[in-house]
Amino acid sequence: MEKIEIIGGRALNGKVQISGCKNSTLPILATTLLSKGVHRLKNVPRLRDVTTFCRLLAGMGAEIVGRQGERELLVDTTGIDKLEAPYDLVRTMRASVLVLGPLLAHYGEARVSLPGGCAIGARPIDQHLKGLKLMGAEIELIEGYIYARARRLRGAPIYLDISTVTGTENLMLAACLADGKTIIENAACEPEVIELAQTLIDSGARIYGAGTGSLEIHGVTSLSPIEHSIGPDRIEAGTFAIAAAITQGEVEIVGCIPEHLRALIIKLKEAGVKLELADHSLLVQGPAAIKPVNIETLPYPGFPTDLQAQFMALMCLAEGSSIIKENVFENRFMHVAELRRMGADIQIQGSTALVRGVKDLKGASVMATDLRASAALIVAGLASKGETVVHRIYHLDRGYERIEEKLSLLGADIKRIP
Ligand code: EPU
Repeated sequence: MEKIEIIGGRALNGKVQISGCKNSTLPILATTLLSKGVHRLKNVPRLRDVTTFCRLLAGMGAEIVGRQGERELLVDTTGIDKLEAPYDLVRTMRASVLVLGPLLAHYGEARVSLPGGCAIGARPIDQHLKGLKLMGAEIELIEGYIYARARRLRGAPIYLDISTVTGTENLMLAACLADGKTIIENAACEPEVIELAQTLIDSGARIYGAGTGSLEIHGVTSLSPIEHSIGPDRIEAGTFAIAAAITQGEVEIVGCIPEHLRALIIKLKEAGVKLELADHSLLVQGPAAIKPVNIETLPYPGFPTDLQAQFMALMCLAEGSSIIKENVFENRFMHVAELRRMGADIQIQGSTALVRGVKDLKGASVMATDLRASAALIVAGLASKGETVVHRIYHLDRGYERIEEKLSLLGADIKRIP
């Protein structure tokens, strides 16, 4: 199994280009199921989750052609005839469930494996299913599969008990082709939800209120194939900002949208990091001494759970104690035991971690448990004394494009060992 080796202690310096956003690409790939024809996507990140989603679509009968080093994807959905997301793909990528809404809305049926729990939490999809039932779908669970049917979905008022990102996306995708008006209250406001809404609007959907907690969708009878260039990944950008800060480096993060990172930027400033913001770039200068800062994860525009682990790595080296509260997922502290192996002083009580800053972290062999935990271990390794070996990096490849190459270009001593 591949691993990553890092010799820590080098400051990162230079420019890094941010790739297309994973969590935008996946729902936008699901959008291709809403109309037959050739869909054109640009700036697609080269990630394992994107490949998995393409396999999912190909299994249904889509033809997918990559161009320009596969940064451009042509997805031809003319031949779609198998309305299924099988267990083998859903268990490797929960976002596969995003095909449920569009299949049901366009083809009137779907058979989708019910995702199980994962390393960061139980992650039920009850809100997705509740919304689809309110829109008139008949849903049965048979042998681990969701069987969903509806001759035509009807628009409906839906209140989400939890502001779920993929739940909002799944219901928005379904509502675009439903009969009449759907209102989704307590909708997620993440930039990825807004990007999905814009992509749908560009292909003929009538969606109002994206980016607010109240979405209104007027169903239309058909949509055109989509044509869209994927926006930058705010979590990748945030991870590089933290990596620059922890190594006391100076990095210009190019091709990002700082506006989408407001919570992180404020917290980094509190920690003493210097930041200069432009429309599409962010200059980060790490401080000589990191100040302790408390964070609490929340849905957007709150501090993103997807940056909690990386921020914790930074706080491990702060001059004092900080409190980190995880409110979104119930089990997103799997990186703590690994950071402790590197000398971090962290205590957990329920959903709260008390991080007492230490003078140094020391390189060690550590195990990645999920995507963002892996990123936190890399960030910690960059600032540790000696060698860190991160195992099970297949998690990392799900969501970071060539992270070791990008870090190497910034001066890190990092390599992938096959
Ligand atoms: N939840 C429910 N019922 C539902 C849906 C969600 O109880 O029907 C709960 C979840 O268990 C969780 C909370 O609601 O406790 C929020 O989960 P959400 O549904 O918003 O998460 P998600 O849509 O499954 C997306 C991202 C995650 C990101 C979260 C939160 C994608 C493909 N995934 O997941 O990204 O952490 O939103 O922002 O968009 C990652 O990229 O590493 C990642 C895990």
